[in-house]
Amino acid sequence: MHVPRLIERKRDGGVLTPAEWRAVIEAYTADQLPDYQMSALAMAIVWRGLAAEELAALTEAMLRSGASLDFSGWSTPRVDKHSIGGVGDKTSLLLAPMVACCGVAVPMISGRGLGHTGGTLDKLEAIPGFNTRLSLTQAIAQVKEFGLVMLGQTPEICPADKKLYALRDVTGTVESIPLISASIMSKKLAEGLTGLVLDIKTGSGAFITDPEQSLVLARTMIGIGEMHGCRTVALLTAMDRPLGVACGNALEVIESLEGLKGRGPADLMEVTYALAVEMLIVAGVDGDRAAARARLEETVRSGRALEMFARMTAAQGGDAAAVEDYTRLPEAPVMETYAARRDGVVAEVRPRPIGHAIIALGGGRSRTDDQVDPAVGLMVPAKPGDRVKAGDVLAVIHARTSAAALLARASLDEAIVIGEAASPRPLVSHRVSGAGVERLV
Ligand code: URA
Repeated sequence: MHVPRLIERKRDGGVLTPAEWRAVIEAYTADQLPDYQMSALAMAIVWRGLAAEELAALTEAMLRSGASLDFSGWSTPRVDKHSIGGVGDKTSLLLAPMVACCGVAVPMISGRGLGHTGGTLDKLEAIPGFNTRLSLTQAIAQVKEFGLVMLGQTPEICPADKKLYALRDVTGTVESIPLISASIMSKKLAEGLTGLVLDIKTGSGAFITDPEQSLVLARTMIGIGEMHGCRTVALLTAMDRPLGVACGNALEVIESLEGLKGRGPADLMEVTYALAVEMLIVAGVDGDRAAARARLEETVRSGRALEMFARMTAAQGGDAAAVEDYTRLPEAPVMETYAARRDGVVAEVRPRPIGHAIIALGGGRSRTDDQVDPAVGLMVPAKPGDRVKAGDVLAVIHARTSAAALLARASLDEAIVIGEAASPRPLVSHRVSGAGVERLV
């Protein structure tokens, strides 16, 4: 393999063969292809894209670079949900136990916060003792025992993506639909799933802000999933404001637990149910949405979904008593309100500056090795369209120090725009499947 020729061919709009992609990924995983050549190739993909057969070959090679969860001989459907990332996006903590109560196994491998967005692993680790670093053997055993596990990417899963993602992060090559699709789908397919639901966040706070591009991303990932026999469906959901009220790790755990007790904010519950319904449908548990929704609501009403969350927490070493007693979760020592400066209508609650505020408070990362402070964050009850008066509380800052709260206040000035009117995106705007795109509004 002469790597400079491959880079040149891709740079000039040509196509690499499946064997060439396999060789590139094998060599890169084995440290036989240097970062400078891989980053040049990644940049060529950013500019030139990938043909369908190249994308399939790249994803396959990344998937085969490591191990997979092996459920062979086990007939229970296995379904996961993956979000492209957002602010206040805690749906995984709610829908995973709900769906696991409906006879569907949920082997969920999640990520940490990325850029301005939060991550499921950081949220779970806000529960004292919760261990997200399970081995594949432990994860399989837990899924077979009671149908639910939530863990981080292990070193065995897609090592090629782990390396390539870190490289893309520092070489300006994250924003590429084929690279994002191959990266996410190789990891999801390694979970041994029979079905997958994608939550494609759209709007100013999403990684892909243009709804047309979100649809392209959805179709691309669905194509990969279906090719591997994994029924894949995507919903386009709003990320032009945070989802729910709580933004920050422990605060989001509390809001999720409230949701599992039937007291979650309406927007969070609507998106959670919409995604969970699709999970039951791709699993083949229900054929129609109303039946799936009723089944899921029953898991909340009966307390079974909450019990499932507590069981997972205990199994993974976490303090299950925190499910009822929130004082066992970390709490920030400084709490300050943030008020409206004038009368008007909340025109925007921009997720990016909210995410930046959480990073400034210490609840997110500026560098991959930063420690996150699970206690800090923001409660932002203000929603686009709310009529407010000067002095009304728009947010509550949970900080470690007053100096940090001051930084968050500056980000809130940028995030919350008071004007005369609002035009938020519909919470769930499109459903995309192998059959095509359905507008839901
Ligand atoms: N998340 C991933 O896992 N990979 C990407 O490329 C982007 C988001």
